[in-house]
Amino acid sequence: TITLGLAACGSGGGIEGGGAEGGGGGGSAETVFRLAFNQTEEHPQYKAAMQMGEDLYEATDGRYGIEVYANELLGTQSDVVNNVSEGSVEMMLIGGPLMESFNPDFVVFNLPYMFASQEAQAAVFADTAATGELFASIEESKNITVVAGLFAGVRNVYNNERPVRTPEDLAGLRLRVQQSDSQVAMIEAMGGVASPMGQGEVYTALQSGVLEGAENNETVYNSLKHDEVAKYYSYTEHLMIPDYLLMNTDVLAQMSEEDRAAFTELVPALVEDANTGFFEFIETSRAASEENGAEFNEDVDVEAFRQRVAPLVEESIDNDVKQGLYDAVQQYNEQYPAES
Ligand code: GCU
Repeated sequence: TITLGLAACGSGGGIEGGGAEGGGGGGSAETVFRLAFNQTEEHPQYKAAMQMGEDLYEATDGRYGIEVYANELLGTQSDVVNNVSEGSVEMMLIGGPLMESFNPDFVVFNLPYMFASQEAQAAVFADTAATGELFASIEESKNITVVAGLFAGVRNVYNNERPVRTPEDLAGLRLRVQQSDSQVAMIEAMGGVASPMGQGEVYTALQSGVLEGAENNETVYNSLKHDEVAKYYSYTEHLMIPDYLLMNTDVLAQMSEEDRAAFTELVPALVEDANTGFFEFIETSRAASEENGAEFNEDVDVEAFRQRVAPLVEESIDNDVKQGLYDAVQQYNEQYPAES
């Protein structure tokens, strides 16, 4: 199909691309890691992963490269994660809530108003002492290694009926959430009706009236054209959910020590590139949505939403591991508070 041809071409640089110049080093590396991605080639995570592939190709003298498949070409996140677990896809980027089905303790990072700032979130994911046990748990159970935690914007609500200022304004609005119990409970507490589904189905559901709205960052709102079918975007700022870069654990273990070290050394640059690029991507996305006629509403009673979800946050921290993760977040929130 056309989609397949275009996306495959955009992803790996093609055969004629020839290694490093081809982008991602996927073209002619001896071993190509396929990385599944559910968003477009404009996304900073896509660009950062391509760059990592090129650098890996260089650093391993062409032994390894990364081929990034954008636009859900390899499947939805919830499907592909099983392929990563089995090893038929080597790498992927995944939204935090989907990790809850592997280990419910991941929920801590997916709770509303958890991180005070992007810096606080980045500090948590740079602190392997804080996240080590959590991440190791799915190496054992799922054969999946969490390579990095990435900034994925701040999520806000949007719908096709009205600007949202208070929890009452969400009454009766069916909003798509990511697939996990925490996300359903959150939207219900905020006053709306939650409808969990994969990202790729949302546009049609909005268009056909199955949904009145959704919640996401500005970049998804624009790049998946949700702005065309749900023009009121309101800054509830309820979530800063990370994405994770995942890799099949055996695949990583099979690399020579030297090549694995080369891979690991490239991770901080990937995080930095992806996170920095995100802020610019937010700006251009918002401007493009405004051009399309979307209305951005900053007049939101954030405190009212925060109070609505506070009991949910408290109930969710129900074991020692979650408490430890929660405390680590709070420590970094104090160090890197919100800009007022
Ligand atoms: C964000 C996130 C994705 C996720 C998407 C969603 O864009 O970066 O990983 O899939 O939201 O809402 O499904």
